[in-house]
Amino acid sequence: MEMTSQLPGHFITFEGGEGSGKSTQIRRLADRLRGRGHDVVVTREPGGTDLAEAIRSFILSGAAEPLGPEAETMLFAAARADHVERVIRPALQRGDWVLCDRFIDSTRAYQGSDGVDASLLDSLEKIAVGEARPDLTLILDLPVEIGLDRAQRRRSGEEGPADRFERETIERHQRRRDLFLAIAAREPERCVVIDANQSLEQVEDAIWHSVRQRLNESVN
Ligand SMILES: Nc1ncnc2c1ncn2[C@@H]1O[C@H](COP(=O)(O)OP(=O)(O)O)[C@@H](O)[C@H]1O
Ligand SMILES: [Mg+2]
Repeated sequence: MEMTSQLPGHFITFEGGEGSGKSTQIRRLADRLRGRGHDVVVTREPGGTDLAEAIRSFILSGAAEPLGPEAETMLFAAARADHVERVIRPALQRGDWVLCDRFIDSTRAYQGSDGVDASLLDSLEKIAVGEARPDLTLILDLPVEIGLDRAQRRRSGEEGPADRFERETIERHQRRRDLFLAIAAREPERCVVIDANQSLEQVEDAIWHSVRQRLNESVN
């Protein structure tokens, strides 16, 4: 089944919780595609352009917090519109492969779990993304404790029992995991759930299998 947008390139997004292996696997897929002679753009959200990075810093500084989650969501959408307009759409128009670390589904999972209304998320998505929708979304799924443990090891190499804050975080992450899986169930033509609780090589193979299966005619 070949499913692409109107644009000649190929747009793959990587989604999933903290420590699920998105950044690791995006590099591996980029290397593999480049090794086969494809032009690949690797990018990430939030960010991807100077303007989007500035908005990201503004939000992360806490300055936007008094505005509430809806306003924050609109700021993220403005950043996304710039990223799509300046980086993603031009690359797809050139016929490149675009691999993006987090995209619309992270907004649905994170802002959605913060209580932002789905209809606002839908409207902003239409404005910011337009026709530059992902051809394929790989949802890297694993138990949240394992992902958080990987992320913590990556940061500090230290271990320890979960404190109260970490337990809250696990619950929040669990809600986001459920939202990612609900998106995958709702849009099976776009999304593939990858079991990320396997070795690096097994996850890489599963991703490559999905890319070939979904975008078969395009991969040489
Ligand atoms: N399949 C895997 N098995 C074990 N460790 C992994 C696996 N995938 C990634 N890691 C490690 O877990 C940490 C988080 O991976 P990363 O790719 O940064 O995740 P993400 O970008 O989704 O937060 C890194 O230290 C990485 O080396
Ligand atoms: Mg990452």
